[in-house]
Amino acid sequence: MNVTEILQADQKGVVRAAKLLASGGLVAFPTETVYGLGADARNGQAVAAIYEAKGRPSFNPLIVHVATHALAQEIADIPQALLPLAETFWPGPLTLVVPVRSDAGISELATAGLPSVALRIPFDPVAHALLSEFGGPIAAPSANPSGRISPTQASHVVAGLDGKIAAVLDGGQCDVGLESTIVGLRGDAPVLMRAGGLDVAEIEAELGRPLAAPIADKIEAPGQLVSHYAPRAPIRLDVTDPAKDEAYLGFGGFGRVDDALNLSKRGDLKEAASNLFAHLHALDELVRLQGLTGIAVAPVPAVGLGLAINDRLRRAAA
Ligand code: TXA
Ligand code: MG
Repeated sequence: MNVTEILQADQKGVVRAAKLLASGGLVAFPTETVYGLGADARNGQAVAAIYEAKGRPSFNPLIVHVATHALAQEIADIPQALLPLAETFWPGPLTLVVPVRSDAGISELATAGLPSVALRIPFDPVAHALLSEFGGPIAAPSANPSGRISPTQASHVVAGLDGKIAAVLDGGQCDVGLESTIVGLRGDAPVLMRAGGLDVAEIEAELGRPLAAPIADKIEAPGQLVSHYAPRAPIRLDVTDPAKDEAYLGFGGFGRVDDALNLSKRGDLKEAASNLFAHLHALDELVRLQGLTGIAVAPVPAVGLGLAINDRLRRAAA
């Protein structure tokens, strides 16, 4: 088994991570949403290694990350209708699905052979330092084995992928804690392809029109498999009265007195989003260690970021 290097998020660590990427290696790195499992997006073999390390179904295209708007424009023709979103929300937790330029040299494995590419400029300073040092596009899905919970700390990445990847750049805890919101086009209409860390209301305010909903069952974002975010333990949702032998994930006023794991005691959805995956990881482990029957989750209001949180919870429970 190979050794996975844990790199500090300082200049030396960033330079080492960029070198590993340039030589075709896989490097997990923090973004403000979740940790990504990065490879040079122009290197087909390196991209293939991502699917292999994750055990990911090969029809899932990956998000391509870049440091600057200029590089984004070299890779994709960003349609007029989506330009305001790129200008306002990049860098940030937004991914745009846009037509890929054939001369951009993006590996077809990264786009799964589609004529479009999912593009993102992350805000996180460590992600930005790595993308700048590397100087090219980095393809990166979330840095978890396929079908498991997304990682929001370097230790989550190590738990899932140790020995399967070259390195992890340790930038601490992710601020947003939910994957990016994905927006594309259907004809001229902007479409929400995945709810995520950027509130849909902010996007709609910028566009001055509502986002269309994805067509149910037609796979516009092919990664939206129902059971995408599953911990090992069974999960029950909207539980206000958990059983004694269940681990309980609280929210706001719903939480056991002795319960350390509350998504947000003050009922703050942003705080809840940033805690979601870390708490699910921790409770999954608790269920295993203490032989509990599963995880019960308190109701989370389905407004704002609560929509994305409930979407993730439903997938975890599926
Ligand atoms: O926050 C995030 O988005 C994280 C960080 C690392 O950037 N990445 C992430 O990647 O969540 P991943 O691979 O787990 O999810 C990417 C989503 C999938 O649902 C995939 O199917 C969709 O983007 N996607 C990628 N390219 C697409 C395309 N050309 N058309 C439609 N959907 C696409
Ligand atoms: Mg994922």
